[in-house]
Amino acid sequence: MRDVTLVDIFKHHITRKYLRRSGVHHAVTAAFYAFELAVERGVQVDYAAKAALLHDIGHYEWYNNEGEWDYDDYRQNDIHAIKGAERAHKLLIRLGENRVAAKHISVSILLHTDSYLPFSLDGKQTALQEVVTLADNKDEQPKGLHHYKQMEISEAIRQLHQLDQKIDAYLINHNTDSELPS
Ligand SMILES: [Fe+2]
Repeated sequence: MRDVTLVDIFKHHITRKYLRRSGVHHAVTAAFYAFELAVERGVQVDYAAKAALLHDIGHYEWYNNEGEWDYDDYRQNDIHAIKGAERAHKLLIRLGENRVAAKHISVSILLHTDSYLPFSLDGKQTALQEVVTLADNKDEQPKGLHHYKQMEISEAIRQLHQLDQKIDAYLINHNTDSELPS
């Protein structure tokens, strides 16, 4: 059985605070995509869904003086993957996640993008990290519009509860409860 569910993570006030910036819709959608991709590729489904749910938790607000999102400033100076990895790790440990899971999820968030790095991550990611990147990219829209799609909190909890049940069923059927990601 898993120590922490997606609903546990989502209901925590830290998650709610930071996902409000980057978009609940994007986070939930990416978590579903990550589950599907993880099943296809034989990657740990629980880690993939959790990392995708939290992958943008490190976002700052990048509004200019007119109150509009300054996308160019964001592209040049953003380090949300670093902030997100640290926030996610702290949150997961507080919620009672085991250290192995917390580490893999956190590092997947750190490496879900190379936009802040002086080198490309192409071909250097683990299968789990690649799944999180692909899940994020699958929901991405030009100029960051995916961050603005709306989803009610109650709807997010309903969908994440469904995804939790899918993950539990998958782990029981495949007996991969303690399997590490490749
Ligand atoms: Fe994202």
